[in-house]
Amino acid sequence: MQSQWNVRVARPADAACVAEIYNEGIRDGHAKLDMRLINAEQVLALMCAPDHHILAAEWGETVLGWASLIPEREAPPGVEEASVYVSRGDRFQGLGRILMEALIRLAEERGYYKIVGRIFSSNEASRRLCRSFGFREVGVLEKHGRVGDRWVDIVLVERLIPAGLGQPAATEP
Ligand SMILES: CC(C)(COP(=O)(O)OP(=O)(O)OC[C@H]1O[C@@H](n2cnc3c(N)ncnc32)[C@H](O)[C@@H]1OP(=O)(O)O)[C@@H](O)C(=O)NCCC(=O)NCCS
Repeated sequence: MQSQWNVRVARPADAACVAEIYNEGIRDGHAKLDMRLINAEQVLALMCAPDHHILAAEWGETVLGWASLIPEREAPPGVEEASVYVSRGDRFQGLGRILMEALIRLAEERGYYKIVGRIFSSNEASRRLCRSFGFREVGVLEKHGRVGDRWVDIVLVERLIPAGLGQPAATEP
């Protein structure tokens, strides 16, 4: 299966598809506390923002998943937050792994030194994905928000990128 996937930098023409896949994840209720849906224009704005990277995974010419690295707020340059979203009908078949591998390679190429993430404690697929790529679960923020009538615990994860640790330009505040 893996050989058929093409992972590349997302293009403006992918924006609507990226938004749709994101919104599916939001509607499913295990991805983010901020449950506002997004549109193609907002994705385009993210694509153009400094140090924001969006990768798209396509099968043939259809984008079925995407992943992003965006600068972590209130952290020095070199610390990026990761997101991975796979189209609802294509989950649990290995695409998340393909995207995460590509994200880590991108972080290495860019000289970033840390990737962080926030995961619902109930999101077992995302937690397993991160664990199997060497992310450390730093801790759990208990009852950090609500989705509908249920409390949500958030797991903080991080992964150092050894290749980026020796690059002073990426670590200066
Ligand atoms: C989380 C997500 C990106 C994972 O991608 P995926 O293509 O479904 O996952 P993969 O098939 O690559 O498998 C990733 C891991 O999840 C595990 N997994 C697969 N199916 C699973 C299931 N039904 N339940 C729990 N874990 C499962 C796999 O075994 C794998 O673990 P491993 O690396 O230890 O082998 C995807 O499920 C998704 O888009 N979910 C909705 C959006 C979301 O929650 N994004 C994350 C926000 S933090």
